[in-house]
Amino acid sequence: MKHEAIQDYYGKTLQGSEDLQTDACCTPAEMPERVKRALANVHDEVMARYYGCGLVMPHVLEGMRVLDLGCGAGRDVYALAQMVGAAGEVVGVDMTAEQLAVARAHRDWHAERFGFANTAFHEGYIEKLGELPLEPGSFDIIVSNCVVNLATDKAAVLEGAHRLLKPGGEMYFSDVYSERRIPQALAEDPVLYGECLSGALYWNDFLRLAREAGFPDPRMVESRPLAIGNPALAEKLGPHRFLSATYRLFKLDLEPDCEDYGQAVIYKGTIPDSPHAFALDDHHEIQAGKVFPVCGNTWKMLAETRFAEHFTFIGDFSTHYGIFEGCGGNSPFNAAAPDAAASCC
Ligand SMILES: C[S@@+](CC[C@H](N)C(=O)[O-])C[C@H]1O[C@@H](n2cnc3c(N)ncnc32)[C@H](O)[C@@H]1O
Repeated sequence: MKHEAIQDYYGKTLQGSEDLQTDACCTPAEMPERVKRALANVHDEVMARYYGCGLVMPHVLEGMRVLDLGCGAGRDVYALAQMVGAAGEVVGVDMTAEQLAVARAHRDWHAERFGFANTAFHEGYIEKLGELPLEPGSFDIIVSNCVVNLATDKAAVLEGAHRLLKPGGEMYFSDVYSERRIPQALAEDPVLYGECLSGALYWNDFLRLAREAGFPDPRMVESRPLAIGNPALAEKLGPHRFLSATYRLFKLDLEPDCEDYGQAVIYKGTIPDSPHAFALDDHHEIQAGKVFPVCGNTWKMLAETRFAEHFTFIGDFSTHYGIFEGCGGNSPFNAAAPDAAASCC
């Protein structure tokens, strides 16, 4: 699919969230209080042009430098701007002028409301991040919400993101994935592509591309099967099933598999808004105060990142005890049945 066709879809065809024809580009209603609080301070016009498919607001953001790939009208940029605070910064990149115009039009309004100005926007392609005035190794976190599926060169996006992250930084992003590879005929359908479906990566191809880009151990945080409510689109798609998933990809020196070195961590309960437990991903819900055995990779995701001060670490890498059983790796499509009741934006 050409960039121009996608720009037309997001700049001209869609005027607001209600113009979407499926629930691919929308986010379930339940969200944490801290996210609700931040969204309550985002301008109505920005909110009305939200087309994301997940929540891209990880914990521990104070003072962080964040990049949003395909920021659209800026909903997540302005929510994250409050979470990083005056000492942090959030930069948005998008290729569609109409989307960026809305984001930029409300920059001063948000700065006044927050009491600080900490956002910037660049027009450009996320496949060509090297052409933008962004310093390699300068971002703590890169987010993206329902955009990578639209990219014409997904490997280039992941490689560019890896280059821009600091060591120990992470790409934390929501996107649409397919259960199997999409045939070319469907990928050429402008509505199916624009609705974030037929450009979606087969989940296992995504895992391979992520590893090749330098993210050895992708971790899924949450997922939601997509319901295709429009009968004409459902018929075109036939057996193809999709889910929206949020992954975190750490820029760390990790092993390809989860290995057991007899290590454990204890969560101190100090992450803001998470006094009882911290969920690193969909299979690591770490209770405060309890010894929690971890593989070497999980250890590094906690010890060599912004999370380190919130944990006590037990053990080291001196003795290997074999593979660490049960550390993810299955098809995300086995996890849940389609949720026909998924609510929209
Ligand atoms: C589904 S919308 C999501 C927008 C925003 N993240 C949100 O949650 O509202 C996809 C956005 O990605 C942008 N986009 C798609 N492909 C892109 C690319 N290759 N480079 C830059 N932006 C792109 C589109 O212009 C559009 O604003």
